[in-house]
Amino acid sequence: MKVLITGGLGYIGSHTAVELSSKGHECFIVDNLINSNRDVFNRIEMLGKHPISLMMVDLLDQKALADVFRRFKFDAVIHFAGLKAVGESVKNPLLYYEHNLMSTLNLLKEMKKANVKKLVFSSSATVYGDLSTPPITEDAPTSIINPYGQTKLMVEEILTDLAQSDPEWSTALLRYFNPIGAHPSGLLGENPNGIPNNLMPYLTQVAKGKREYLSIFGNDYPTHDGTGVRDYIHVMDLAEGHVKALIYLENNTGAHTFNLGSGRGYSVLDLIKTFEEVNNVHIPYRIVDKRPGDIAVSYADSSKAERELGWRATRGLGEMCEDAWRWEKGLEKSVDKTME
Ligand code: NAD
Ligand code: UFG
Repeated sequence: MKVLITGGLGYIGSHTAVELSSKGHECFIVDNLINSNRDVFNRIEMLGKHPISLMMVDLLDQKALADVFRRFKFDAVIHFAGLKAVGESVKNPLLYYEHNLMSTLNLLKEMKKANVKKLVFSSSATVYGDLSTPPITEDAPTSIINPYGQTKLMVEEILTDLAQSDPEWSTALLRYFNPIGAHPSGLLGENPNGIPNNLMPYLTQVAKGKREYLSIFGNDYPTHDGTGVRDYIHVMDLAEGHVKALIYLENNTGAHTFNLGSGRGYSVLDLIKTFEEVNNVHIPYRIVDKRPGDIAVSYADSSKAERELGWRATRGLGEMCEDAWRWEKGLEKSVDKTME
């Protein structure tokens, strides 16, 4: 398939591009580098099996996007591009509504004009908020607690309306749980700007000595050790989920929602312990106040994805920790050095 990947230089997009290319698909990436860099492209090309095209295009630039659709005829689109920092979305909601909604509307208009009607969308488990009792199924009620989550749910609704209005549209709304880990080569991984908001990138920076200690946000949650429990999923498992979703869309029209998680919940302390064991490093930590908006426990029921996509997460927490650490350790090296 010829696949357009928006945000293909980002964390999840880059791993998915490698996976698609390895499976023989032709990949075309558009990215405006707002949260990535061009070096990632060289690494995707090294790891993939087929040449990949890169276009530096901002999805907010409708004309430039129209040009992309004029130049190439795609079979499907995977839409990763967007802003994703929850805290920033609370401080600057207009930025998030404008960025995440306008870019998606621009994309959908161009897809419609070009008669490309297969789309995989990056949604998030954040749409479940704090209403549901895990394991969370796709029909659990949604409850939005921040503007970022609102943009995800709004796009899901737009895609559902679109599929209802025109039976030729096929869309997969993938609700990711907590993606962590990195490509096993150590060449691709998560590289957030500034102070990391999420647990794994913060933890790897502590392991490296870049930060003094990890702050654990609360230890009196109703969980087995008092710290928050999440469903961590290896980014390579997630990448494989996107390939399966694309195949599914070949034979299934309509809008389809899938949880992508491992189905297992681990606490912050579980993650630290596993990271220390498999990597033989020490992680100093301190217990601090809870982070506002955090929930105690979240993990997926991903049986629908297993049943309908033929997908399930296969990589365990130890592998996620090993791969994340290999990536962090190699971060400063240049591409050429890393290949030596
Ligand atoms: P990321 O920030 O690493 O990647 C997003 C990419 O999109 C970046 O390369 C960025 O430069 C690009 N981009 C952003 N706005 C753009 C625009 N207007 N035009 C062109 N390119 C643009 O994020 P990620 O972690 O890879 O996440 C990918 C998607 O998955 C996002 O939509 C995110 O909201 C969603 N998601 C991520 C997580 C997570 O924990 N990482 C969890 C659930 C959902
Ligand atoms: N945590 C710490 N210390 C840190 C960072 C996190 O103790 O420095 C804890 C949190 O309290 C939580 C767990 O580690 O219990 C995981 O936190 P993350 O910030 O890594 O992930 P969240 O579950 O809060 O949210 C992430 C993304 C959201 C996404 C959600 C579901 O940030 O955008 O997963 O996919 F919506």
